[in-house]
Amino acid sequence: MGPTDPVERGLLPLTSVVAPDGRLSVGGVDLVDLAGELGTPLYVYDEQELRMRCREAVQAWGDGVAYATKAFLCLAMARLAFEEGMCLDVSTGGELAVALAAGVTPDRLVLHGNNKSDEELAAAFAARVGRIVVDSFDEIDRIERLAGDVAGWRPKVLARITPGVEVHTHEFVRTGQDDSKFGFGLASGAATEAVERLRRLDRAGTVELVGIHAHLGSQVFSLDPFVRAIDILATFFAPLALSELVVGGGLGVAYVNGEQAPTMAEWAASVKAACARAGIPGSVRVTAEPGRSIVASAGVTLYRVGTVKPVPGYRTYVSVDGGMSDNPRPVLYDSGYEAFLPREATAARPLPIRLVGKHCESGDVVVSEGFVPEDLAVGDVLATPVTGAYGHSMASNYNKVPRPAVVFVADGAARVVVRRETVDDLLRLDV
Ligand code: LLP
Repeated sequence: MGPTDPVERGLLPLTSVVAPDGRLSVGGVDLVDLAGELGTPLYVYDEQELRMRCREAVQAWGDGVAYATKAFLCLAMARLAFEEGMCLDVSTGGELAVALAAGVTPDRLVLHGNNKSDEELAAAFAARVGRIVVDSFDEIDRIERLAGDVAGWRPKVLARITPGVEVHTHEFVRTGQDDSKFGFGLASGAATEAVERLRRLDRAGTVELVGIHAHLGSQVFSLDPFVRAIDILATFFAPLALSELVVGGGLGVAYVNGEQAPTMAEWAASVKAACARAGIPGSVRVTAEPGRSIVASAGVTLYRVGTVKPVPGYRTYVSVDGGMSDNPRPVLYDSGYEAFLPREATAARPLPIRLVGKHCESGDVVVSEGFVPEDLAVGDVLATPVTGAYGHSMASNYNKVPRPAVVFVADGAARVVVRRETVDDLLRLDV
């Protein structure tokens, strides 16, 4: 499929159905009607796909697999992942608070962060979270100081290791290499020292050291780096006789026509096979923390077209009513997206355009080299698929644009799970 062909079925949410007249519905809800009712921009999630992806992760990895909430978090999403049997990875006190407010049992939470504050650690201890992934020597000092405060309980901890594996992804989301702000480097000997210190704390009854963690990066298309990381980590891990090995997140997803990503099952199978080959005993809990691959393709953003501006000799600019405030990924990482009209979802898209937002800078691009149907017009509802990950969670109020609502669709009904911001919201923090 080329760029001017209709958006591939695989990029649309699971329950997408195109009616004979070309209109797209998700979860039994017509997207053009939904945009009319709830306004735009609008983040729409296919609830059935979200649930299916969580189940797929639990099936592939087993108990302990955690949803990385940074990809998309609100009360409804936290509840959904919890209900579907996933643990939740939270990387700040804010994510922790939202997960707890959603009713997620604390023992299902994994706390991350390269710079956890005293307050964040204290909140995690007070809640008695299931796991804490320790990232630095300063954090070990802090844990030593604070952990004893909770009577009759000690945190289960994992040491975050940087295995020195580089992955082919954007520099900003690469994390497994030696030159990283995250974790304890293997090559420098920091990992060995960290484990020794945590072992001492374990013997003193302050923590329980249960395992090792490594996260290589995000939007990784090849399974090879994971296999390489296991080969490297296994040598370090095996003599420690610990019971948990976590390979982080990072499974890539297809964003545009022609892209292919491994499935959750393939990812888990190749990691587990590498563990077996490396002699890691079957009793070790090998698990992961997928974020993007759980939520990305379940989400579609709906915009309304406000202006169409042909610039002769150059290109046609199509402006929508959102932009870098609801999806900063194109600006930050040069990420590609598709665009289509939900009123004719299977139409060819011969018209080359640049899809831009409403923000006051030229960099405010949603799709740099996009294609749309020839009859696209002002007033049309336009959709960008695969926007379920790191869109809502990284949204801003730049130019005082209120953030969009989030709606879950399922069984013919739409449920607003995060309401649209208003001007009052924009003013509520000013004193
Ligand atoms: N575990 C850890 C320790 C992580 O740092 C991350 C992501 C994940 C799990 C989940 O990774 P995923 O499965 O979603 O790739 N804002 C960027 C992505 C940043 C990812 C940060 N860490 C983006 O929009 O592409």
